[in-house]
Amino acid sequence: MPSPHEILARTEIFVRGRMHGDGSGHDWWHVDRVRRTALRLAREEGADPYVVELAALLHDVWDHKLHAGDDSVAPREIRRWLQEAGAEEPVVEQVCEIVAGVSFKGAGVATPMRTPEGAVVQDADRLDAIGAVGIARAFAFGGSRGRPLHDPDTAPDLHATFDAYRAGAGGTTHHFHEKLLLLRDRMNTAAARRLAEGRHRFMEEFLRRFHDEWNGEDAWS
Ligand code: ADP
Ligand code: NI
Repeated sequence: MPSPHEILARTEIFVRGRMHGDGSGHDWWHVDRVRRTALRLAREEGADPYVVELAALLHDVWDHKLHAGDDSVAPREIRRWLQEAGAEEPVVEQVCEIVAGVSFKGAGVATPMRTPEGAVVQDADRLDAIGAVGIARAFAFGGSRGRPLHDPDTAPDLHATFDAYRAGAGGTTHHFHEKLLLLRDRMNTAAARRLAEGRHRFMEEFLRRFHDEWNGEDAWS
C-alpha cells in the first residue's frame, strides 16, 4: 500500500502535467497557491492535512468550467485517479465530496461545506479568486472566453441558480459584482475572513479607478 506521502507526490506530478500552461487562470500555480493557503488554514482549524492537500491538488483538474459544464466528470475521474494511486476508500470519499462542493454556484446558491477539510479548501480557493491575483485571474478567464473587459450596456445579475450563473455572459467587471465581491462575507473560517478583508478593499479600489478611467473622470478633476 503506497504511503500518503507517495500518493501526494504522484498526484502532484499528475496535476502539474495536466494544468501546466493553462491561460484561463486555472494553471498549476493556482493549484499550488490554493494548496499552500489551505494547509495553513488547516493548521489553524485542526483539519486533516492529507485530505486537504489531496483535495486542493485535484480541485480544478476536471472543473465544470473547463469541461463543457459537466459536473459529473470530476467525482468519477478523481475516484478513478485516487483508487489507482492506492488511496484508502474513506480518503477517496472525502476528497470527492470536497471537490464536488467547492465551487461557487451563483450569488443566490448556498454552497455549505460539511467538514473542516472542505471548509479550508473552499476558503483557499475563494481567497485566490479575490485581491490582486483574483483580479488578474478574472481578466485572464474572461479573455479566454472572448469576453470584453467591461460591458456598460448591461447590468450584473445576482444569479439564483447554478444554471443561470453558468450561462451568464457580459463583461468581466460584471463578475466582480456577481461573485468576487460576495466572497469576503462567505468565508468559512476566521483566518480566511481576515485575509479576505484587505483583498476585498483592494478590489473595490481597483473598480473605482477602472470606472473613473473608463469615464475619463480621473485626470480631469
Ligand atoms: P470556482 O470553482 O469557485 O469557480 P475556480 O478556482 O475554479 O473557483 O475559478 C474561479 C476563477 O475563474 C476565478 O478567479 C474567477 O474570477 C474566474 N471566473 C469564473 N467565471 C468567470 C467569469 N464569468 N468572468 C471572469 N472570471 C471568471
Ligand atoms: Ni480553483
